Amino acid sequence: MQTSQKLLIYNQFNKNIFRVIRERSTVAATVCPYASQTETNEVEIARIKNETTTKYLPYTQVPGPKPLPIIGNTWRFAPIIGQFKISDIATMSFLLNQVFGRIVKVSGLMGRPDLLFVYDCDEIEKCHRNEGPTPFRPSMPSLVKYKSELRKDFFGDLPGVVGVHGEQWREFRSRVQKPVLQLSTVRRYVKPLEKVTDDFLQRCTQHLLDEKSELPNDFSNEIHKWSLECIGLVALDTRFGCLDEKLDPKSEPQQIINAAQFVLRNIAILELKAPYWRWFPSISPMWKRYVANMDYFVEICMKNISKATERLKAGSEGALDGEPSLIELVLREEKNEKLATTMALDLILVGIDTISMAVCSILYQLATRPEEQQKMYEELKRNIPDPNTPLTIQTLEKNKYTKAFIKEVLRVYSTVIGNGRTLQKDTPICGYMIPKGVQVVFPNLVVGVDDEFVSDAREFRPERWIKSPDNDTNLHKFASLPYGHGARVYWEHIYFYACKFKLIFFLQMCLGRRFADLEMQILLAKLIRNYKLEYNYAPLKYAITFMYAPDGDLKFKMTRREE
Ligand code: HEM
Repeated sequence: MQTSQKLLIYNQFNKNIFRVIRERSTVAATVCPYASQTETNEVEIARIKNETTTKYLPYTQVPGPKPLPIIGNTWRFAPIIGQFKISDIATMSFLLNQVFGRIVKVSGLMGRPDLLFVYDCDEIEKCHRNEGPTPFRPSMPSLVKYKSELRKDFFGDLPGVVGVHGEQWREFRSRVQKPVLQLSTVRRYVKPLEKVTDDFLQRCTQHLLDEKSELPNDFSNEIHKWSLECIGLVALDTRFGCLDEKLDPKSEPQQIINAAQFVLRNIAILELKAPYWRWFPSISPMWKRYVANMDYFVEICMKNISKATERLKAGSEGALDGEPSLIELVLREEKNEKLATTMALDLILVGIDTISMAVCSILYQLATRPEEQQKMYEELKRNIPDPNTPLTIQTLEKNKYTKAFIKEVLRVYSTVIGNGRTLQKDTPICGYMIPKGVQVVFPNLVVGVDDEFVSDAREFRPERWIKSPDNDTNLHKFASLPYGHGARVYWEHIYFYACKFKLIFFLQMCLGRRFADLEMQILLAKLIRNYKLEYNYAPLKYAITFMYAPDGDLKFKMTRREE
């Protein structure tokens, strides 16, 4: 489609909308106050509604790459003949926007509904605001098959939140979200997560740095181990032991590392490149390995949740300095080991790669931006004058620049490149009537750097996130949603000088967001307060494995800072 045509459609759409708004306001202004107002308005609104529905362009006219007969668009990811490797999905997302505009349809994907890319933050906002209490999130079909078919006997009616939709999702989520998102639970983890991070930094300095003070080529694996160790604590009250000096290949921590890598790194391949396991699972070696690794995770979760139950039965003190841990809270409240196991499994599945890839990206940006790193260091030095002082939630709160830096990396290099929803009803988007069942993709990565929604969008400027009178940056609320979005609210009681206040919070879809923020802030506070990070090699490109991150060896130079 020609650009002029695309513009025409878009302008037509805008004109229609403005006309409807004009007509509505004229209706309101000219109605006689003594006439039967409601009746007139209803007739008028029905007429306008009817007119607008017929004015939307049909779904078939949404622009996009043309699918080939039978093989559709899946061939675009096929080896040799395909245009895109899985790792190119981010580039593809930018390209679709450049070539086709604000709304793009990719149809004919083998075994999947059409994907509809929406590159307009106002439209993304509307989609989120209209999604209702049980948003339907297109999610990993492999996990859906595993939970709802293969291991249905275990997961039953409470299969968790990941790969689950509708009422089952809402039921599970409402039973676990309070303890997971509650600030009072999260802040109990500062000390244990600081210990994990101290162990990680000690491992870096004592075992990983070479004679040039550089970290090894596979440093991203080490970050992965740190995040596994963090999630073991959060989801299972346990230290897996992934940061131990030498791991036996048969040891439990090494097997956990291998299982996590296999399950998470092969999902995109399973689902986009070789989806034939859906029809012929018994002849797909990759699917069989996936199932074996998932079974292993379930086993690890069950084992550790049983230990927590035993502790509770024995009446022992809470696992976190006498206070109850997340798992203990859920077990106490719900008295359901299976539910706790499923929650732990979901947290582990989603909470390893997301955070390790985000950390790879954040550290790479810090190492290649000395000015910003210096600003972070100065802030940390100011707020933590003695580097040996244990961290507290209050100290972390004060590190405004550090927090802003994390947000800016997640805006410009969004680790999760896109989020999505499956439409539950026919919905008008960008002037087209999109039918129920289509998967709408919100491409974080592309809209986050679009000048229309963010001022000087390509400029890396953490300060834009810090409130100040001279910061007049335009930043559309829906341009950077690295953790997704939820339409609903929840409340929490806060005590202040013996008074009880009820605070309302907007629900974030990412169940682990508070833990993710905490883990990243602790790591940066410990690392940058004490060490200088450099990267002295050719710049790295970003690519997708499962997440969006620098593609190459993170051979950082790490040197102790002089006090
Ligand atoms: C920087 C790190 C992370 C990023 C960028 C991230 C991003 C996301 C996104 C985009 C979603 C989908 C939200 C939506 O549908 O609107 C999500 C969901 C989720 N995340 Fe995270 N996440 C991160 C870390 C974590 C961690 C550490 C955990 C576990 C401790 C976690 C657990 C979850 C869970 C369980 C869900 C599914 C929630 C539900 O369906 O109700 N995430 N995350």
